[in-house]
Amino acid sequence: MKTSYDVVLYGASGYTGKLTAWKLAERGIPFIAAGRNAERLQAELANVPELKGHDYSCVSVTNERKALAELFNGKKVVINIVGPFMQLGRPAVEACLDAGCHYFDTTGEIDWVLLLRQEFGPKFKAKGLALCPANSYMFTEGNIASEIALETPGIDTLDIVYLGDSQVSVASTASFLRMCTNPQHYLQNGELVMWPYATSYSVQLPGEQKVLNALPWSGGGEPVWFESDPRVRNCSVLVSFRNQAMFAAVFGMLRKFEAECRELPQDKREEIANAWGADLTKVEPPRENPDVNRCILSCHGRGNTNSISVILRGNSPYAQTGVLGAEAARRVLRGQLRETGFVSPAKAFGARSLLASLAEEGYLTHEVKSV
Ligand SMILES: NC(=O)c1ccc[n+]([C@@H]2O[C@H](COP(=O)([O-])OP(=O)(O)OC[C@H]3O[C@@H](n4cnc5c(N)ncnc54)[C@H](OP(=O)(O)O)[C@@H]3O)[C@@H](O)[C@H]2O)c1
Repeated sequence: MKTSYDVVLYGASGYTGKLTAWKLAERGIPFIAAGRNAERLQAELANVPELKGHDYSCVSVTNERKALAELFNGKKVVINIVGPFMQLGRPAVEACLDAGCHYFDTTGEIDWVLLLRQEFGPKFKAKGLALCPANSYMFTEGNIASEIALETPGIDTLDIVYLGDSQVSVASTASFLRMCTNPQHYLQNGELVMWPYATSYSVQLPGEQKVLNALPWSGGGEPVWFESDPRVRNCSVLVSFRNQAMFAAVFGMLRKFEAECRELPQDKREEIANAWGADLTKVEPPRENPDVNRCILSCHGRGNTNSISVILRGNSPYAQTGVLGAEAARRVLRGQLRETGFVSPAKAFGARSLLASLAEEGYLTHEVKSV
């Protein structure tokens, strides 16, 4: 009997697409692997050992609303991994709305998250569908840690730092360069305030001796998710990398961008960020190694007279992104979606449930300290 697929993995041929395919297979979820080139999909997915014997079907589709809606029709969940999302994401979102599918993506681009909230949030809500961008390491880890900090009464201020140590994929590089060269925000007294461009900050992570340089890296999803949350007044997110030589190279590019490109039209700026990204990352990284590719997230919560720290120690951020995509599919199919419309991953499924899923696979542990 032919499978009637409930899940579409769009952008399955890429680095994160293959990791998500692995995690869907581990959960026994059949899926359609979609992308612009069926041969490439077949070839790339043949490299995923966990897919041997698993039920999936490769389908080529153009990145257009009508073609995607035809493919999504009759399915329940779309995991969109085709980025940069501000450049390529709109047809998949519109097609989900047309076809009646729940939408999850892996973006870290917060202008994209803001656009989805404003333009598509109410439309998804009206149809009883989830619209859940950034269901990915960055910025779901901070989302999870924040919700745990907010369990302590009185905490209204969240100060979050990510430290990553993984090689980045081709589309991630294009995405982060456009993230860092477009408006980035933090939340101050309930208002989104712009970070200055090309400015780095010194941070110190718990358990680390060295002070590291960090950037707002788009400002993070957390300030956007908490903007209209009565519990939260202030929220800021910074991102650092163990490889500070790479950080210095990126920071140098951002300085050059300010000096030479800030006054150019938006489309030209995007083109330049893409070209610089293509120059910086040319090949797909190998699968992450937990012994090497470790990450830390620190979330300091503050109230008038109290404070709390939530620390997540983990590894393999890209693989974590795969887990989050596959978990979203599994939970929607099991009827465990808690909210529809524009929704953060933690609100959609519960912060502690997501944490448990990542912990179960050895990707994350957490520590809560009253300080
Ligand atoms: N926030 C996070 O923590 C996080 C984590 C992981 C990934 N991401 C984001 O997810 C996105 C994908 O990352 P990745 O690691 O999978 O990158 P990747 O390895 O470069 O893969 C990019 C994917 O997008 C597809 N694609 C590119 N241009 C396309 C177009 N014009 N039309 C249709 N499909 C197109 C590619 O298809 P082809 O194979 O046909 O080229 C491929 O499947 C990036 O934006 C990245 O920033 C974010």
